[in-house]
Amino acid sequence: MALRVENLRIYYRTLRGYVHAVEGATFSVGDGEIMGLAGESGCGKTTLGHSLIYLKPPMAYIEGRVFLDGRELPIWDMDRMNEFRFRHISIIPQYAMNALNPTRRIGPLIADLLATQGIDFRQILPELQRRLDLVQLSPEVLNRYPFELSGGMRQRAVMVISTLLNPSLLIADEITSALDVSTQRAVCEMIVEFRNRGFVRSTIFITHDMSILYQIADTILVMYAGQLAEKAPVETIFRSPRHPYTRMLIASLPRVGARQPHLFRRQRQ
Ligand SMILES: Nc1ncnc2c1ncn2[C@@H]1O[C@H](COP(=O)(O)OP(=O)(O)OP(=O)(O)O)[C@@H](O)[C@H]1O
Ligand SMILES: [Mg+2]
Repeated sequence: MALRVENLRIYYRTLRGYVHAVEGATFSVGDGEIMGLAGESGCGKTTLGHSLIYLKPPMAYIEGRVFLDGRELPIWDMDRMNEFRFRHISIIPQYAMNALNPTRRIGPLIADLLATQGIDFRQILPELQRRLDLVQLSPEVLNRYPFELSGGMRQRAVMVISTLLNPSLLIADEITSALDVSTQRAVCEMIVEFRNRGFVRSTIFITHDMSILYQIADTILVMYAGQLAEKAPVETIFRSPRHPYTRMLIASLPRVGARQPHLFRRQRQ
């Protein structure tokens, strides 16, 4: 079992009191598993993902325990989490394409990040170049500033950077939302490829797009209003969803060739 989360509660402190963003989450992610985390906007997906790696105020740890490869993660202690971040657990944040420091070229930016883990850039450069090649980026990107890359190129660069140290767990938060359909597909294939090559052991893939999860995930965890609705293998979720909200998510998927006569009628009026 790569990840075990027990009764996790994460709130936000606001002037009007606490916002209960994650309320008692308990679940596991197995070795090699790609777990989709789905649910409507605002249900707490990003909060859950981030809390496992970086608690940014006003996010507040209330209770719960998290174990990665049998070791407890001190998620309430940002300093102690430094030991785990990037090396054992890594994140591609929502809007990652804009998360790269704009004033630093990609190469030096990676060197800075590696230095925080006491790793020499030159030592890892051959592997870095191999992985850039795998995602069809030229080594030349290391000399470029983030704004000199397209959105899709930046997304692929972030994927390579965040998995460079072969973390046990990768959290990918809405990494396909701002991409066109063909780039989306390429990024999804990379997530599976990275797992197959052992660059990451397990992945939590956050999205509200069930059709993407159908293609790449092994299991799906559905969240609803800060709580976990259900977790099951992909086929089970699609064939016999138990929670009404899961049923709704699946029913809302467009079907190829399906027509919606009432919409056409309205357009003609
Ligand atoms: N900084 C904050 N301060 C107060 N409340 C917040 C803050 N960030 C998020 N929330 C609240 O926490 C809840 C969960 O938000 P979160 O961003 O985790 O949702 P999400 O499922 O990732 O949504 P989306 O699909 O839109 O990305 C929401 O009710 C949101 O309003
Ligand atoms: Mg989010």
